[in-house]
Amino acid sequence: MSHTDDHDGTRRDFLYFATAGAGAVTAGAAIWPLINQMNPSADVQALSTIRVDIGGVQTGQQISVNFLGKPVFIRRRTEAEIEEARGVSLDALPDPLARNANLADDAPATDENRTLDENGEWLVEQGVCTHLGCVPIGDGAGDYNGWFCPCHGSHYDSAGRIRKGPAPENLPVPMAEFVDDTTIKLG
Ligand code: FES
Repeated sequence: MSHTDDHDGTRRDFLYFATAGAGAVTAGAAIWPLINQMNPSADVQALSTIRVDIGGVQTGQQISVNFLGKPVFIRRRTEAEIEEARGVSLDALPDPLARNANLADDAPATDENRTLDENGEWLVEQGVCTHLGCVPIGDGAGDYNGWFCPCHGSHYDSAGRIRKGPAPENLPVPMAEFVDDTTIKLG
Protein backbone atom coordinates (compact mmCIF):
# COMPACT_ATOMS: atom_id res chain seq x y z
CA MET A 1 0.00 0.00 0.00
CA SER A 2 1.41 3.41 -0.79
CA HIS A 3 1.64 6.16 1.77
CA THR A 4 -0.94 8.03 -0.26
CA ASP A 5 -3.51 5.42 0.64
CA ASP A 6 -2.54 5.55 4.26
CA HIS A 7 -3.17 9.21 4.62
CA ASP A 8 -6.42 9.91 2.87
CA GLY A 9 -7.81 11.60 5.93
CA THR A 10 -4.94 13.92 6.63
CA ARG A 11 -4.19 14.75 3.00
CA ARG A 12 -7.15 17.08 2.93
CA ASP A 13 -5.48 19.05 5.66
CA PHE A 14 -2.21 19.80 3.89
CA LEU A 15 -0.84 23.17 4.73
CA TYR A 16 2.01 23.24 2.27
CA PHE A 17 4.39 20.96 0.48
CA ALA A 18 7.98 20.52 1.45
CA THR A 19 10.38 22.26 -0.89
CA ALA A 20 11.65 19.11 -2.55
CA GLY A 21 8.15 17.95 -3.31
CA ALA A 22 9.08 14.55 -2.01
CA GLY A 23 7.32 14.96 1.29
CA ALA A 24 4.52 16.93 2.71
CA VAL A 25 3.76 18.57 5.97
CA THR A 26 0.52 18.11 7.76
CA ALA A 27 -0.12 19.58 11.08
CA GLY A 28 -1.93 19.87 14.29
CA ALA A 29 -1.95 23.41 13.01
CA ALA A 30 -4.81 22.48 10.69
CA ILE A 31 -7.23 23.04 13.56
CA TRP A 32 -5.63 26.35 14.36
CA PRO A 33 -8.55 28.66 13.49
CA LEU A 34 -10.88 26.95 15.95
CA ILE A 35 -8.63 26.71 18.95
CA ASN A 36 -7.21 30.12 18.32
CA GLN A 37 -10.56 31.59 19.24
CA MET A 38 -10.82 29.59 22.42
CA ASN A 39 -7.39 29.91 23.91
CA PRO A 40 -4.66 32.26 22.83
CA SER A 41 -1.89 29.97 24.02
CA ALA A 42 -3.27 26.84 22.33
CA ASP A 43 -2.39 28.06 18.83
CA VAL A 44 1.22 28.44 19.85
CA GLN A 45 1.22 24.89 21.09
CA ALA A 46 -0.37 23.57 17.87
CA LEU A 47 2.21 25.27 15.72
CA SER A 48 5.08 23.98 17.81
CA THR A 49 4.41 20.45 16.53
CA ILE A 50 4.19 19.34 12.93
CA ARG A 51 3.83 15.97 11.25
CA VAL A 52 5.88 15.27 8.18
CA ASP A 53 4.89 12.61 5.66
CA ILE A 54 8.11 10.88 4.70
CA GLY A 55 6.46 8.04 2.80
CA GLY A 56 7.77 9.30 -0.55
CA VAL A 57 11.37 9.86 0.51
CA GLN A 58 13.72 7.46 -1.24
CA THR A 59 17.04 6.21 0.08
CA GLY A 60 19.65 8.88 -0.58
CA GLN A 61 17.06 11.67 -0.62
CA GLN A 62 16.61 14.61 1.67
CA ILE A 63 13.63 16.85 2.21
CA SER A 64 13.66 20.18 3.94
CA VAL A 65 10.73 21.44 5.97
CA ASN A 66 10.22 24.72 7.71
CA PHE A 67 9.76 24.22 11.42
CA LEU A 68 9.45 27.10 13.85
CA GLY A 69 10.97 29.41 11.28
CA LYS A 70 14.01 27.28 10.58
CA PRO A 71 14.80 24.63 7.98
CA VAL A 72 14.89 21.06 9.20
CA PHE A 73 16.55 18.46 7.00
CA ILE A 74 15.17 14.94 6.98
CA ARG A 75 17.50 12.58 5.18
CA ARG A 76 17.04 8.92 4.41
CA ARG A 77 20.65 7.79 4.40
CA THR A 78 22.26 5.23 2.16
CA GLU A 79 24.05 2.17 3.53
CA ALA A 80 27.37 3.81 2.62
CA GLU A 81 26.50 6.97 4.56
CA ILE A 82 25.48 4.96 7.60
CA GLU A 83 28.62 2.83 7.52
CA GLU A 84 30.85 5.83 7.08
CA ALA A 85 29.25 7.73 9.96
CA ARG A 86 29.28 4.73 12.29
CA GLY A 87 32.94 4.06 11.56
CA VAL A 88 34.11 7.44 12.86
CA SER A 89 35.92 7.44 16.19
CA LEU A 90 34.72 9.97 18.75
CA ASP A 91 38.29 11.30 18.96
CA ALA A 92 37.96 12.56 15.41
CA LEU A 93 35.02 14.81 16.29
CA PRO A 94 35.64 18.49 17.09
CA ASP A 95 32.30 18.52 18.95
CA PRO A 96 31.99 15.35 21.07
CA LEU A 97 28.34 15.95 22.03
CA ALA A 98 25.30 14.53 20.24
CA ARG A 99 23.38 17.84 20.36
CA ASN A 100 20.22 15.81 20.22
CA ALA A 101 17.20 17.34 21.95
CA ASN A 102 15.78 13.85 22.47
CA LEU A 103 18.75 12.80 24.62
CA ALA A 104 20.63 14.05 27.67
CA ASP A 105 22.79 17.13 27.15
CA ASP A 106 25.97 15.15 27.74
CA ALA A 107 25.17 12.28 25.35
CA PRO A 108 28.19 11.57 23.14
CA ALA A 109 28.11 12.26 19.40
CA THR A 110 28.01 8.66 18.24
CA ASP A 111 26.11 8.11 15.03
CA GLU A 112 23.55 6.09 16.98
CA ASN A 113 22.88 9.10 19.17
CA ARG A 114 22.26 11.30 16.16
CA THR A 115 19.77 9.25 14.17
CA LEU A 116 16.07 8.74 14.69
CA ASP A 117 15.86 5.00 14.16
CA GLU A 118 18.07 2.22 15.43
CA ASN A 119 19.35 1.28 11.97
CA GLY A 120 20.45 4.82 11.35
CA GLU A 121 18.50 5.25 8.18
CA TRP A 122 16.79 8.48 9.19
CA LEU A 123 18.63 11.60 10.19
CA VAL A 124 16.69 14.68 11.29
CA GLU A 125 18.62 17.86 11.95
CA GLN A 126 18.29 21.60 11.82
CA GLY A 127 19.65 22.98 8.58
CA VAL A 128 21.37 25.89 10.24
CA CYS A 129 25.16 26.13 10.36
CA THR A 130 26.35 26.45 13.94
CA HIS A 131 28.91 29.07 12.93
CA LEU A 132 26.82 32.04 11.84
CA GLY A 133 23.56 30.47 10.78
CA CYS A 134 23.78 29.89 7.01
CA VAL A 135 21.89 26.96 5.49
CA PRO A 136 24.41 24.26 4.52
CA ILE A 137 24.37 22.48 1.17
CA GLY A 138 23.52 18.78 1.45
CA ASP A 139 23.44 15.59 -0.59
CA GLY A 140 26.94 14.42 0.18
CA ALA A 141 28.52 17.87 0.04
CA GLY A 142 31.86 18.79 1.57
CA ASP A 143 34.92 16.72 2.42
CA TYR A 144 32.97 14.33 4.65
CA ASN A 145 30.11 13.32 2.39
CA GLY A 146 27.50 15.21 4.36
CA TRP A 147 26.81 18.94 4.39
CA PHE A 148 28.94 21.91 3.47
CA CYS A 149 28.46 25.51 4.51
CA PRO A 150 30.09 27.69 1.86
CA CYS A 151 29.86 30.87 3.93
CA HIS A 152 33.14 30.20 5.73
CA GLY A 153 33.85 26.61 4.81
CA SER A 154 32.37 24.32 7.46
CA HIS A 155 32.23 20.64 6.60
CA TYR A 156 29.73 18.30 8.30
CA ASP A 157 29.76 14.53 7.95
CA SER A 158 26.90 12.22 6.99
CA ALA A 159 25.63 12.36 10.58
CA GLY A 160 25.62 16.18 10.53
CA ARG A 161 28.63 16.39 12.83
CA ILE A 162 31.11 19.20 12.32
CA ARG A 163 34.43 17.86 11.06
CA LYS A 164 36.31 20.83 9.64
CA GLY A 165 35.94 24.61 9.53
CA PRO A 166 34.85 27.32 11.96
CA ALA A 167 31.47 25.91 13.05
CA PRO A 168 31.79 24.97 16.73
CA GLU A 169 28.98 22.43 17.08
CA ASN A 170 27.22 19.59 15.33
CA LEU A 171 23.97 20.44 13.54
CA PRO A 172 21.28 20.27 16.26
CA VAL A 173 18.82 17.39 16.24
CA PRO A 174 15.35 18.69 17.18
CA MET A 175 12.70 16.85 19.16
CA ALA A 176 11.44 14.22 16.74
CA GLU A 177 9.77 10.82 16.70
CA PHE A 178 8.05 8.39 14.39
CA VAL A 179 4.31 8.32 14.99
CA ASP A 180 3.81 5.63 12.34
CA ASP A 181 5.85 4.08 9.52
CA THR A 182 5.58 7.09 7.26
CA THR A 183 5.14 10.02 9.59
CA ILE A 184 7.68 11.89 11.67
CA LYS A 185 6.48 14.32 14.29
CA LEU A 186 8.68 17.32 14.97
CA GLY A 187 8.43 19.12 18.28
S1 FES B 1 27.95 30.33 8.68
FE1 FES B 1 28.53 28.31 8.08
S2 FES B 1 30.68 28.45 8.03
FE2 FES B 1 30.11 30.41 8.68
